[in-house]
Amino acid sequence: MNAAVRAVVRRGIADGHHIWGIARGFEGLVRGQPTALSASSVANILMTGGTILRTSRFSDFRNPEVRAQAVAALKQWAIDGLIVLGGNGSLTGAYELHRLGVPVVGIPASIDNDIAETDYALGFDTAMNNIVASVDKIRDTASAHDRIFVVEVMGNRCGTLAVAAGLACGAEAIIIPEVPTDFDAIEEQLKATYARGKKHSFIIVAEGAGDAHDVAQEIARRTDQEAKWVVLGHTQRGGPPTAQDRLMAALFADAAVDALIQGRHGMMVRSQRGDIGLVPLEDVVSGHKPVPLAWKTLAEILAR
Ligand code: F6P
Repeated sequence: MNAAVRAVVRRGIADGHHIWGIARGFEGLVRGQPTALSASSVANILMTGGTILRTSRFSDFRNPEVRAQAVAALKQWAIDGLIVLGGNGSLTGAYELHRLGVPVVGIPASIDNDIAETDYALGFDTAMNNIVASVDKIRDTASAHDRIFVVEVMGNRCGTLAVAAGLACGAEAIIIPEVPTDFDAIEEQLKATYARGKKHSFIIVAEGAGDAHDVAQEIARRTDQEAKWVVLGHTQRGGPPTAQDRLMAALFADAAVDALIQGRHGMMVRSQRGDIGLVPLEDVVSGHKPVPLAWKTLAEILAR
């Protein structure tokens, strides 16, 4: 997020615009004051996690009267265009502001990578790398003790992060909300890997699919082997952004500033098959992004 904030500020200033930051997301539109952002105010944030603008979960924004207050505030502050950086909730809010006449452009950012109409959302690669690094460390214990580890990852109600991380980590099985859990198949998969001499294994569970502790208990019961569980939690979401996230943040921010300048409002910037482009926010909020189920199958084949 910081890499995107930096790029929006510097790209906007380069084009002769004044850039203001709104702290704490939509809550800041209603209850806060904008802060002028200079090129130097965003120095040294490219490599830091989190967001200097801070954020909030602001459910009051679902209330039309609260959204009207936000529109009034933007008018009062003489802000000509708004860039909203966030996941499905933020982009829905952005779409609602667009419908109220606010010139708005969205930038997809969510470690869940569950935003329709874009292949990529900022944060996903950093979260993936955090998960892979954690699993690599846990593997030392797993292999030394011949243990099964059930690792719960984030993703909200979506299994994309679990599937991609499971594939990247070489997990034996991946449990996601989109597919009913088949413990018989997991047991059979573990037995197949043990038949070729492997003595430890990893099961990745998406948080939306259930509890790692319950899964570990069921697996231990079925295999008669020690099964530990780890919930990676917010460790996945922090730390320095990867090179991929910094690159995508710069490209998305550049396209978002361009779109605002060209009057292409009510859009979200997106990456599709390697190209950066724009898509109406309406399509984003009404769309659905499928989970790459083929990757789950592939992970299971490769682990055998
Ligand atoms: O949407 C991003 C995400 O990290 C989800 O994967 C997770 O369920 C949620 O946010 C956690 O939110 P919070 O930090 O508010 O608990």
